[in-house]
Amino acid sequence: MFGMELRGGQGATCCPLRFVKHTFCKFRGNLETANHYTSSYTEQTVTKPSGVPEHHLPINDSAFIADPYSTLKRLRETTPIYWDATWKKLFVTRYDDIAALLRDKRLGRSIFHVLSRDELGFPPPDARVAAFDHFQANHILDMEPPNHTRIRGLVQKAFTISRVEGLRVRIEDIVQDLLEAAEARGGAFDAVADFAEPLPVLVIAELLGVPAADRHLLRPWSSAIVKLYELGYSDAQAVAANTATEQFSAYIKSLADQRRAEPRDDLISALVAVEESDERLSNDELVANCILFLNAGHEATVNGITGALLTMQRHPHVKMQLASAAASEANNSSIFKTAIEEFLRFDTPLPMFERWVLEDLEFRGCSLKKGMEVALIYASGNRDANKFTSPDTFNIARDPNPHLTFGLGTHYCIGAPLARLEMSVALHAFLKRYPNFEVPDQPLEYTGWVIRGLKRLEVKL
Ligand code: HEM
Repeated sequence: MFGMELRGGQGATCCPLRFVKHTFCKFRGNLETANHYTSSYTEQTVTKPSGVPEHHLPINDSAFIADPYSTLKRLRETTPIYWDATWKKLFVTRYDDIAALLRDKRLGRSIFHVLSRDELGFPPPDARVAAFDHFQANHILDMEPPNHTRIRGLVQKAFTISRVEGLRVRIEDIVQDLLEAAEARGGAFDAVADFAEPLPVLVIAELLGVPAADRHLLRPWSSAIVKLYELGYSDAQAVAANTATEQFSAYIKSLADQRRAEPRDDLISALVAVEESDERLSNDELVANCILFLNAGHEATVNGITGALLTMQRHPHVKMQLASAAASEANNSSIFKTAIEEFLRFDTPLPMFERWVLEDLEFRGCSLKKGMEVALIYASGNRDANKFTSPDTFNIARDPNPHLTFGLGTHYCIGAPLARLEMSVALHAFLKRYPNFEVPDQPLEYTGWVIRGLKRLEVKL
């Protein structure tokens, strides 16, 4: 997942698990010190392609992050593909262009299988983040075929739709417990800290089979690791993330050993079984992908839930319609299904991902060179009038709704069914309990652009 770091990466795969594909870590310094290209190869690949206009998107500007949609609309209309000289990347804003690039096997989330660190002008790996790099090298998000195909296939065998659906009742219980505890604090609470944030961690713990007594360990580990997803983390944070990765890996390894000895009905036992069948999932792959589930499944789901609460406040008719459905219909009714997709389209929790160009190609008149990076703004594609009728209108019944929020192609989100389930159970229970909830006027602060979520959201019941 993650940020728009600058060149100068440290590890085998360079940067922390980032939803934005690996670019270059800022770990070694600021823009001036990190942004050099030591080889002539990279000099050539990071040059603006001819015939492409130049533009700069203020992705770190809080006003832009709070409301990116009017700016993105202008870009789609006037400068749909442009070169950003600050980030040295090509930015793509239209739905069809993003979809075409996501389907094109000549682009990928990792580059090291086609170009070496030397060729890319990267410094040698940094021993201080070795555990982190090892984790990076073993999870599917930053692999490309054929490794990705093999490991994703194995993981998918354990992470089945029926396993996810089997969690529905348990998620309903977790949601009720969280709402009761939050309500006990009085007539208002922070929907981020008291509700949306603990939920995905508890659900992943349940899915993996982490014993209740150990669940408090997961959030601090995940928080330390995800610090590296954002732009501008410190050396201390990188080292803390490495320590968290070491501890988390050791924990999952020991849990996997226990499940190997005594299997249970949980994802770790299922992954262990996959590991022991003919097609093998190695111990390192098993550990790395369990950590990925927590990190990948955590932040985006929080932002999806709180974003939906804010969208309802801004669209009172949507709140009324869904509250009335929550009173009489189940959380898997058709109105909840279409509403969840529309929440995800309308305000995209992870607005932008990146790809490396793996071989030279021509795209819409631009010459893209191997080793170049392309930033794909899913949040912009999700509001493209050439794909969605009245894209700036929240249409609770929109169907079909082929939004890009879970990606497309090789890396399509493996957790999408779980995310949908969590969001529908959470929002249904919330509205059933508090049909007249209000989001009072308050300063809204977002976590960032790449993982775009509210830092807090006070709700009145
Ligand atoms: C609203 C919630 C979520 C959103 C918006 C989201 C979004 C995404 C996106 C866009 C990708 C593809 C990244 C790319 O194109 O470069 C992705 C991949 C992935 N997601 Fe999610 N996700 C969510 C929830 C979850 C959950 C709950 C889990 C797991 C428990 C999960 C696990 C993963 C994994 C493992 C991948 C990597 C798949 C691969 O590389 O083959 N996600 N997610």
